[in-house]
Amino acid sequence: MTPQSHNHNTILVLNFGTPFAQQIAKRIRECNAFSRVVPYTISTEEIKVIAPLGIVCVCDDRCFDKYATTVPLLNEMSIPMLTVSGSDLAATDFLRRYLKKCGCSFDWTMRDFADMMIRKIREQVGNEQVICGLSGGVDSSVVAALLSAAIGPQLTCIFVNSGLMRKGEMESVEPEFSQHFKIDLHIAREEKRFLGALAGVTDPQEKRKRIGHEFINAFSEAASQFKNARFLAQGTIYPDVIESGGDAETPAATIKLHHNVGGLPDDLEFDLIEPLRDLFKDEVRQLGLELGLPESLVWRHPFPGPGLAVRCLGEVTVEKLNVIREADAILIEEIRNAGLYRSISQAFVVLLPVQSVGVSGDSRTYENAVAIRCIKTSDFMTADWCSLPDEVLRRISSRIINEVSGINRVVYDISAKPPATIEWE
Ligand code: XMP
Repeated sequence: MTPQSHNHNTILVLNFGTPFAQQIAKRIRECNAFSRVVPYTISTEEIKVIAPLGIVCVCDDRCFDKYATTVPLLNEMSIPMLTVSGSDLAATDFLRRYLKKCGCSFDWTMRDFADMMIRKIREQVGNEQVICGLSGGVDSSVVAALLSAAIGPQLTCIFVNSGLMRKGEMESVEPEFSQHFKIDLHIAREEKRFLGALAGVTDPQEKRKRIGHEFINAFSEAASQFKNARFLAQGTIYPDVIESGGDAETPAATIKLHHNVGGLPDDLEFDLIEPLRDLFKDEVRQLGLELGLPESLVWRHPFPGPGLAVRCLGEVTVEKLNVIREADAILIEEIRNAGLYRSISQAFVVLLPVQSVGVSGDSRTYENAVAIRCIKTSDFMTADWCSLPDEVLRRISSRIINEVSGINRVVYDISAKPPATIEWE
């Protein structure tokens, strides 16, 4: 679903096929003016209905022909126009001057986005029922909160417990959504199913394949119990759309297949509601805060769909998952206590398929090693490792070795992406 704004405060960004259009729209929103991207093929009739304050054409040399044929049509509409090419991206002052010329009042906020979406969702859903897959992550939580504000009892959330979650994850979802937001929350307890599918599997791609397959089946089964549901709400955000090649106007060179868009089968026969499709992650967080989600949830580090399975090298077993969960909880607690959580993009523990010799009292041990990975990134396409203070590293290591049974060695990952990836798999 694309946000429609029939009030007269929209700046339309026309996308001629560069990857920058959404970033320009975001820059405009950062100036407190509402902006959304539409394809350059939008008709003049549709533009008149939206009645934007301004039209920004975003293009580069490659789209010159399309631009040259569209601009004369736009000129006839007497709406202030601006053309931006990729190299103008940094010029926020320039954008502000243009917005002023358009008559912008610079008072738009994420609250207005929430209100607009709530109206839109009510209009779209009517009296029908909606289901929403909740993962415990930021995006799906924000969608659930938005839907709950819009249609309350017509919403059911489904949380598939794969048994691959972090410590306390499941336990925190229930009070937050069921008790605080009063959402009808359905938890599908599927730990055994996932572990069964992963038994004996060591190849990382095969693990991903099986988890994806089980997730689709588990979710479909849970969803099929809600026979009256006509809509499925998903927390797809703009970077997911790009990485899945879902933005028709943008070359799909950066497609990343393991992401979420298009993950569910067509035969589920739901109409999709994707209210965050045009937003970037920091905007989704802002929206979450507007909707009353707690800061601890809104600022959570991203967590991969296949969960701890990608952090458990070799075969995934309950015992290994428990070790990772315990060590991971210590890592996160120490990072939070040191006030470092927000300055790190992702922090996690990887259980290595390696045993090594250690000493405990008078005897030798032969136990497992874990790697700690803390990275900083702006886009998750490239990343650098974080340099943590010695005393924090020391505390993390000594607590993990002393408190988690089966671990006698902790190492710190100092690899940048590329060439390493963020997850070890
Ligand atoms: P890599 O390991 O490819 O990870 O450098 C980049 C970012 O993507 C996350 N990641 C995933 N996220 N589903 C997701 O939603 C997945 O299957 C998945 N695999 C990796 C990873 O945690 C990092 O933030």
